[in-house]
Amino acid sequence: MQPLVTLRNLQVHFPLARSEVVRAVDGVHLQISPGEAVGLVGESGSGKSTLARALLRLIPLTDGEVWFDGQPVHRFSEAQMRPLRRQMQIVFQDPMASLNPRMRIGTILAEPLEVHGIARGRQALEQAGRLLERVGLSKQYLNRYPHEFSGGQRQRICIARAIATQPRLLVADEPTSALDVSIRAQIHDLLRHLQKEMNMAILFVTHDLHAVRQVCSRVEVMYLGKIVESAPVQSLFTNPAHPYTQALLDAVLEPKPSQARRSRPLPSGDVPTTIHVPAGCRFHTRCPYAQPRCREEEPILREIGEAQHVACHFPLSKAGQP
Ligand SMILES: Nc1ncnc2c1ncn2[C@@H]1O[C@H](COP(=O)(O)OP(=O)(O)OP(=O)(O)O)[C@@H](O)[C@H]1O
Ligand code: SF4
Ligand SMILES: [Mg+2]
Repeated sequence: MQPLVTLRNLQVHFPLARSEVVRAVDGVHLQISPGEAVGLVGESGSGKSTLARALLRLIPLTDGEVWFDGQPVHRFSEAQMRPLRRQMQIVFQDPMASLNPRMRIGTILAEPLEVHGIARGRQALEQAGRLLERVGLSKQYLNRYPHEFSGGQRQRICIARAIATQPRLLVADEPTSALDVSIRAQIHDLLRHLQKEMNMAILFVTHDLHAVRQVCSRVEVMYLGKIVESAPVQSLFTNPAHPYTQALLDAVLEPKPSQARRSRPLPSGDVPTTIHVPAGCRFHTRCPYAQPRCREEEPILREIGEAQHVACHFPLSKAGQP
């Protein structure tokens, strides 16, 4: 099956003053299959949002390739991108900021239908009503304004707008981190439901590993601008191979008695930034298992098990030690 999205050596660098450069995305290889839900996790500043925006061609690429449905979109002009826009949509973290407060919900939802020539006028409004119902809201709400809704309802409206054009890819960048903990799971359920119903691929960017389990079948772990591990959700949770992945999991999961002292916690001292990426393995300054080789040679992402890839010279075994 042809991948829906392929990233090859994607790089997005931001020049700063004094000839410093933020290497926000620093050579990412990634594939998303049609209908696949992929989680993208990693600490703040690791480049997740930059990667997501570059993939959608919302920000300029420094280097590398982005293929969408077999097309080299890294070479496309904005005019060439326009017809593809309906195939790739994004939902942001803050639903209030992404909805025009002066527009009624009906107008907000009809807009993408009209822009992409899918429906107009009364027909567009009828479709808007059906979209509201698909995200669990009543079509009675078409005449209301964004401020009349709760945060969770507003995010449902953003999702309705994003699926209006029947996209093949939905990028959700921390779609629930601004919401009450109590309603996050409902939004995750909705995303999962829509993904299955529409056979829509999702790139789900989040800090929340539990949410990844709920929504995704595969996870990409990002550290300082690079993917360091890629694995099916189940493998990642039971047998993380990269010491960084294990540290992320240790921070959120209750250890089983047999795993109680599986790993040492990450040092909290100087965390490098994408301005000063360490040589060799970029994780070596924090890795409890670093060896001399790690300081000199950068590990490449390689396959170590079924669909599991890791960028580490000494991946963890099932017992949790290299
Ligand atoms: N327009 C920009 N100009 C300069 N630096 C930027 C720009 N956008 C992002 N960065 C930097 O790039 C790095 C990656 O940022 P990004 O927002 O992609 O991280 P993230 O993983 O999404 O973080 P978070 O989890 O906090 O959302 C950060 O160091 C950030 O400061
Ligand atoms: S390559 Fe070395 S420093 Fe990097 S994660 Fe693996 S063991 Fe740690
Ligand atoms: Mg972000």
